[in-house]
Amino acid sequence: MGFKEKMVKQVRKPEGRFGRRMAKMMNYGPHAKMAKWAFHHIPVELDSIVLDIGCGGGRNLQRFAKYAPNGKIYGIDYSEISVKVSKKVNKKNISSGLVDIRNGSVASLPYADNYFDLITGFECHFFWPDIVEDMKEVKRVLKPGCSLYLIAETYLSDNEEHVNQVKQWAKLGNFPVYNPKELEDLLQKAGYINIEILLENDANWLLIKGKK
Ligand SMILES: C[S@@+](CC[C@H](N)C(=O)[O-])C[C@H]1O[C@@H](n2cnc3c(N)ncnc32)[C@H](O)[C@@H]1O
Repeated sequence: MGFKEKMVKQVRKPEGRFGRRMAKMMNYGPHAKMAKWAFHHIPVELDSIVLDIGCGGGRNLQRFAKYAPNGKIYGIDYSEISVKVSKKVNKKNISSGLVDIRNGSVASLPYADNYFDLITGFECHFFWPDIVEDMKEVKRVLKPGCSLYLIAETYLSDNEEHVNQVKQWAKLGNFPVYNPKELEDLLQKAGYINIEILLENDANWLLIKGKK
């Protein structure tokens, strides 16, 4: 397996020592810049109950904990290594009971129906095993009237160079990539309403929001 292929595999599901480094790196670099942009567009209340799916290195859980100190912040990731790194990064807030991090897949979320005020997936929906069914599973745990936010730089933008790069990664990792309209259609198929798309074209960042 070549180095790039190894990288994609680790980004998809961090494992072992290399995976731990990758999960830590997710908290910095380009992901962090995109997350900072996205947080300007995600309405978090002081008492929001939030779920971040594919929480990776756990940095976004830390951000949510800062914005919703009277709420509860949940993170889930199917990589044991991501969970381990996320738990270390959020140690203080886990001890106080503000943050809860679990090992599990988006395909079967270990939470009650109609529980969350807000659910996010940063740079991970294209790894989901059955995207429409998984979006439905996310909808199950969202409160009526509340929204799922998907944020990504791995999508088919209008920028040819960016698209070529994204397609190359997708081919190496054997995962699907979508343009904004395709994502809108998928959310609609899963039963979401009031879908809104926000693009930061200079950076090739996408935020798409669907309401239950
Ligand atoms: C590219 S990383 C993004 C991590 C983090 N959200 C960020 O933006 O830095 C993708 C993460 O999604 C997780 N992931 C992929 N498929 C998943 C699934 N089916 N269920 C839960 N987590 C998943 C991976 O283990 C990995 O930690």
